[in-house]
Amino acid sequence: MSLDLPPGDAVADPADLKGIPFWPGPHAPFKKCCFNHAVGLPSKNGRQMPIFGYERRIVAALAKKKDRAKARHVWVKKATGLGVTELMLRYMAWLCYKSDEFSGAQMCIVTGPNIELAKGLIARLKEICRPLQIEKTKETVAILNGCRVEAYPSHHLDAMRALARPAFILLDEADFFPSKEQQNARAVAERYIAKSDPYIALVSTPNLPGGLFESIEKEPEAGCIYHRLHLSYRVGLGTIYTKEEIDKARRSPSFEREYNLKYGYGVGNIFPYQLVDACSEEYGLALCKDASRVLAVDPAFGSSNFAIVGIEQPAEGGLMYVKEAREYQRPSPSAMLEVVARFARHYPTVLVDSAHPGVIKDLLEMGIDARPVLFSKELQEMTSSASAAVKEKAIRIHPAFSDLQYQLKAAVFNDKGHPDKTRLKFDMGDCLLMAVHYLRNAGGLYVVEA
Ligand SMILES: Nc1ncnc2c1ncn2[C@@H]1O[C@H](COP(=O)(O)OP(=O)(O)OP(=O)(O)O)[C@@H](O)[C@H]1O
Ligand SMILES: [Mg+2]
Repeated sequence: MSLDLPPGDAVADPADLKGIPFWPGPHAPFKKCCFNHAVGLPSKNGRQMPIFGYERRIVAALAKKKDRAKARHVWVKKATGLGVTELMLRYMAWLCYKSDEFSGAQMCIVTGPNIELAKGLIARLKEICRPLQIEKTKETVAILNGCRVEAYPSHHLDAMRALARPAFILLDEADFFPSKEQQNARAVAERYIAKSDPYIALVSTPNLPGGLFESIEKEPEAGCIYHRLHLSYRVGLGTIYTKEEIDKARRSPSFEREYNLKYGYGVGNIFPYQLVDACSEEYGLALCKDASRVLAVDPAFGSSNFAIVGIEQPAEGGLMYVKEAREYQRPSPSAMLEVVARFARHYPTVLVDSAHPGVIKDLLEMGIDARPVLFSKELQEMTSSASAAVKEKAIRIHPAFSDLQYQLKAAVFNDKGHPDKTRLKFDMGDCLLMAVHYLRNAGGLYVVEA
C-alpha cells in the first residue's frame, strides 16, 4: 500500500510501517512518511489537523535520552481538550508498529475508577488503528502488532502489578483519581522502572491543590524523574482551539483550572474563587508596629503538613493581613518547636489545634502563650467567620501565598458543613480559620480548659 492513501476505510499494511517516524521531520516528504498520515490524521469539527508543535514537544520529551533518570518519563499538566489523550494513544500505537520490539510486551492505560472510561480509551485506540485491521478483542484490550494494550480503572490495579514486560504506562487524568489511588497508581507504574524501563506518561488537567500533580510539580528538578511540561490553553490558541471557543470557556468559574493550569479553581464552595481573588493584593510583608497579631499552628508530623499562618491587624476591627503562610512536610517535632518559638517572638498569641496537647505543653514550657483550639467545638463558627471575612474583603492575602489561596478556593463543605479534608489538603486553611476567628472575636471563645 502507499502511505499517502486517504485515511478512513483505507487499509494499511503493518509491514509498511516498520521504521516509520511518528511525524515527518523537517526534511522528509510531507505525506508519505509518517505513522499519523498512514492511519489518518486526527480531526476536529470535521477538519483534519496536524500533530501540533506543543504535541511534538511531548513526543520529543518522551524520546529524550540525555538525563537517564528522566528518560521516557513525562508529566504533562495541560488544558482540557488540547488532544493529549489522543496524542498518547497514537504514540503508543506507533511504538507498537514501528518495530517488533514490543511484540509480546504490554502497555497499560490507567483511567479514573470507572470502567466506561477505560473502555472508551481502548475504543479510541482501536479506531485510530482501524486502517491496520487489528484483531477483535474484549472492550478493555487491544492487540497491536503482538503488544497487548489494556486499560485499567484506577481502583483495579491488582492485575497491573504482575505484568511480565510493560513497555508503556499512561496515567490519564491522573489528578482526578481518588487521592489514595493517585499514589498507588504512581507507585505501581514506577515500580516497573527497574524491571522493564517502561515509558511512563502522567497526563492531567489540574485538579485539587495537594494532589498527585501538585506534589510532582513541587519536586526539586534534580530529584524528579519526569520531564515536566506545562501546556496551558495558550499553546492551543489558533491551533486546536478557536478564539471563540476560549472566549466561551472563560465564562466558566473553572476556566482557570481547566484551561490555565491553576489547581482548585471552580472546585470549592466555601470561599468562591472570585472572592479569594478580590482579597489578593500586594502589600509589605514586614510586620507593623503596634498591630494586633496572632499565629495559628496546625501541627502534623505524618500524612498531612505542619502549617503555620500569621495574621496581623493594624487597627482593631480593621483589615487583616496574612503575613506568614507556610507548610512543612514531615518535619521533626523539635525543629518545628524552634520554628514556632522564633515566630512567637513577634506574635504574642499562638493558637494550636487542641489535638496536639504535647506541642501545646512544650510551647507553654518555653514561655509562649499557646492556646488550644478545640476544632470539634469551634469549626463551624470558625468557618463562617473566615468565609464572612473573605466575602467582606476584610482580609488581604498576598499573592506570594498562592498555596493558601488555592486551599481556600478548593475547599468544599462536607455533609456536616465543615471543610472536607478527605479530598484535599487544608492545613493552612485550618490555620487561617483559627486566626481570623480569633481576631474577629477579639480573642474570645478560644481557650479550652486543659
Ligand atoms: N492534533 C491533534 N491532536 C490530538 N487530538 C486532536 C488533534 N486534532 C484534533 N484532535 C481531536 O481533538 C480531540 C482531542 O480530545 P482529547 O480527549 O484527546 O483531548 P484531551 O487533551 O485529552 O482533553 P480532556 O481534558 O478532555 O481529556 C479528539 O477528538 C481528537 O481526535
Ligand atoms: Mg484526555
